[in-house]
Amino acid sequence: PLITGYEPPGEPNPMKPIILGFSQLGSESTWREANTASIKEAAAEAGITLLMTNAEQDQNKQFEAIRSFIRRDVDMIAIAPVVQTGWEAILEETREAGIPVIILDRSVNVEDSSLYITFIGSDFYEEGVKAAKYMMDRMRHHSGIIQIAELQGTVGSTPSIDRGLGFRKTIEANGNYQITQTKPADFTQKRGREVMREFLQQPKEKWPQVLFSHNDDMAIGAVEAIKEAGLKPGSDIIIISVDGTRRAFEQMVDGNINAVVECNPLLGPLLMQAVKEIMAGRTLPKRMVTPEDIFTQELAAKEVEYRKY
Ligand code: AHR
Repeated sequence: PLITGYEPPGEPNPMKPIILGFSQLGSESTWREANTASIKEAAAEAGITLLMTNAEQDQNKQFEAIRSFIRRDVDMIAIAPVVQTGWEAILEETREAGIPVIILDRSVNVEDSSLYITFIGSDFYEEGVKAAKYMMDRMRHHSGIIQIAELQGTVGSTPSIDRGLGFRKTIEANGNYQITQTKPADFTQKRGREVMREFLQQPKEKWPQVLFSHNDDMAIGAVEAIKEAGLKPGSDIIIISVDGTRRAFEQMVDGNINAVVECNPLLGPLLMQAVKEIMAGRTLPKRMVTPEDIFTQELAAKEVEYRKY
């Protein structure tokens, strides 16, 4: 079966390497660095020529990159979209050029899903659910209202939107859990520290008992701010974050972070496999979700040395 809207590429020619244009959204976090490295390595291993650009969190730069890939007449385009909306027009351009598109890591909100072939990445909503479930279990003996601070990621990005939604949906039935402070901190350690400082500049009665951070880098920044305020991260404030980087595992081993929901950045091999399948004219599932876990301090000590990112 053929992929709607695209000519079958026919038998791949082993003499002509596949050219993949990849628009990476930025380099904001440890996760992103691991993701970029994984894609480079996997492309080299698969013998695929990779043209990669870094959009530095700017959707317009992603559009420019995609247009440059069209001009280069690449075989395929992969996009890690910085935000969820605003992709229709550029995806129409790629379709007109007859270049298949793979969406990687973060999803796009488009009415016509035939504008791309497949979306490979994590289930961010489920990550938010896992974080909330861990928190509710951890805090089950706590009586009264539990104040939660939330560090959001990039405004308008799928991981930030969906992690927030999954977390809220899970706590909504229990009035004891209240998100009392929430603010974007762009998925960076620096902003995580700054925003957590702002939270702790509030009167003491507003301080949170729990911090839900949408990624590890922001959580590590927050740990610094919590220490500066004379508090003990991991006990005065329970910290739950997302990604599962080795740095966060080390923080768990030190008792600063309590639990981390895994989000796997090592998408390179899956992406290259998808590229080859599409080039061979095969149909792929519209959605490919990566399997993921949750790690607590007990598990972190055993696992830290094996973390690949
Ligand atoms: O899109 C994945 C998210 O983006 C990761 O959780 C975060 O660390 C990154 O910057």
